[in-house]
Amino acid sequence: MSLATSQASAKMKAYYRIKLPLPIITTIICIIAFVLLLYTERLNLFSSNSILKAKSCSRRDGFKKSSEKTEEKAEDMLIDDRFDFDPEECNVANGKWVFNRSIKPLYSDRSCPYLDRQVSCVKNGRPDSDYRHWEWQPEDCTLPRFDPELALKKLRGKRLLFVGDSLQRGQWQSFVCLVESIIPEEQKSMKRGRSHSVFKAKEYNATIEFYWAPFLVESNSDLHIIGDPKKRILKVDSVAKHAKNWMGVDILVFNTYVWWMSGLKIKSLWGSFSNGDEGYEELDAPVAYRIGLKTWANWVDSTVNPNNTRVFFTTMSPTHQRSADWNNKEGIKCFNETKPVKKKGHWGSGSDKRIMKVVSDVVGRMKVPVSVINVTQISEYRVDAHSSVYTETGGKLLTEDQKADPLHHADCIHWCLPGVPDTWNQILLAHL
Ligand SMILES: *[C@@H]1O[C@H](CO)[C@@H](O)[C@H](O)[C@H]1NC(C)=O
Ligand SMILES: *[C@@H]1O[C@H](CO)[C@@H](O)[C@H](O)[C@H]1NC(C)=O
Ligand SMILES: *[C@@H]1O[C@H](CO)[C@@H](O)[C@H](O)[C@H]1NC(C)=O
Ligand SMILES: *[C@@H]1O[C@H](CO)[C@@H](O)[C@H](O)[C@H]1NC(C)=O
Ligand SMILES: *[C@@H]1O[C@H](CO)[C@@H](O)[C@H](O)[C@H]1NC(C)=O
Repeated sequence: MSLATSQASAKMKAYYRIKLPLPIITTIICIIAFVLLLYTERLNLFSSNSILKAKSCSRRDGFKKSSEKTEEKAEDMLIDDRFDFDPEECNVANGKWVFNRSIKPLYSDRSCPYLDRQVSCVKNGRPDSDYRHWEWQPEDCTLPRFDPELALKKLRGKRLLFVGDSLQRGQWQSFVCLVESIIPEEQKSMKRGRSHSVFKAKEYNATIEFYWAPFLVESNSDLHIIGDPKKRILKVDSVAKHAKNWMGVDILVFNTYVWWMSGLKIKSLWGSFSNGDEGYEELDAPVAYRIGLKTWANWVDSTVNPNNTRVFFTTMSPTHQRSADWNNKEGIKCFNETKPVKKKGHWGSGSDKRIMKVVSDVVGRMKVPVSVINVTQISEYRVDAHSSVYTETGGKLLTEDQKADPLHHADCIHWCLPGVPDTWNQILLAHL
């Protein structure tokens, strides 16, 4: 891995000297980003989400129906009055980030014992703190603040499972950290596994879980991650091996995006007569993504009973590898950024509109209602909130030399925690 990185770095330097055209440089940066991503995936994962509903976001249906008692209903009504928030009415993704110094995150990377080092930016030496004091304000409604007690009440007797890649893992850790501080030590437990991790809130008989499936569908690079994207092969029509672990869950939250974005064609296998690893076809990423997502959608439609299970899908978590995207010509990726982008509707090269289109197409045609947590636009503004050089690589904190070389070492894919994924969870909770 480190060999690959340093070779890539050397190449990068050489390319810069000869001043290659922008598209080539962009491609190189993408590949380097991908190598970095792989690194980080191996060690720790992160997740992210934004909510936009595709079908009905009926929070009264299903979720409420199943088991709540009258007293809780009364409490809900109180909350509704207070916040006047209706996910059916309000486009949460349309709004702005507002700075408010008096907002304190509900946890820190020192107070919450469950955060991976990958995202523990303050512990890793990040000196600035403004990025922790921005609040997302939708234009048409007030988004209720994350209330840990309300969250645990809504999860009483239930399993919440996040499924996807390292960005999804980040959202899972954010959710756990947002609620864990109000649970006494002996009332909670955490079991980390290679593919499945479970946080338990015993008094509530609730679990908040994470399942690692970076493509959702099967690949040869799920548990034993293959560093070279060229060697990865996806079974775009197979999901059963992972999906058997998603059965009987009350609330499912899925994502998949960044692993498809190596800039290469996707080696895709399908059909029961596939000739082992040789029978693959190379497809453009959006084409392979459509088949893979359709496989996932068919599983949901044929397996999930919407009376018992809520299904969410988190859209692309944007990457910020090109500072020219937000007109910082002197910038090096997201390094040293301390403020969100102001320009309304800002959309950079790290969010692929073709993939977004596939998500709306596929989700829009499903039988089981899926609530889309549309985090993409919200997070696009937050160039200031990535782990950058305050992260680890290969299990070790970046060295001073590596920190001094952000072009090759800044992580502009994952997010610091506390941070942006807390907002994704704020939106998720508002839809539960
Ligand atoms: C800032 O946050 C504080 C504490 O939550 C709140 O009381 C105040 O109204 C907020 N200010 C603005 C301008 O939103
Ligand atoms: C706890 O929740 C699980 C589902 O997550 C359920 O099967 C079980 O019956 C619950 N136990 C109690 C004591 O409520
Ligand atoms: C869900 O509930 C409705 C109304 O109670 C019922 O008509 C429907 O058959 C149920 N669907 C499934 C898949 O069980
Ligand atoms: C990063 O920001 C700090 C503080 O504003 C500044 O001193 C430093 O020169 C910046 N580094 C780069 C490489 O732009
Ligand atoms: C998410 O929001 C963006 C704009 O903010 C929109 O273009 C896109 O279609 C939405 N995606 C889905 C799946 O609804």
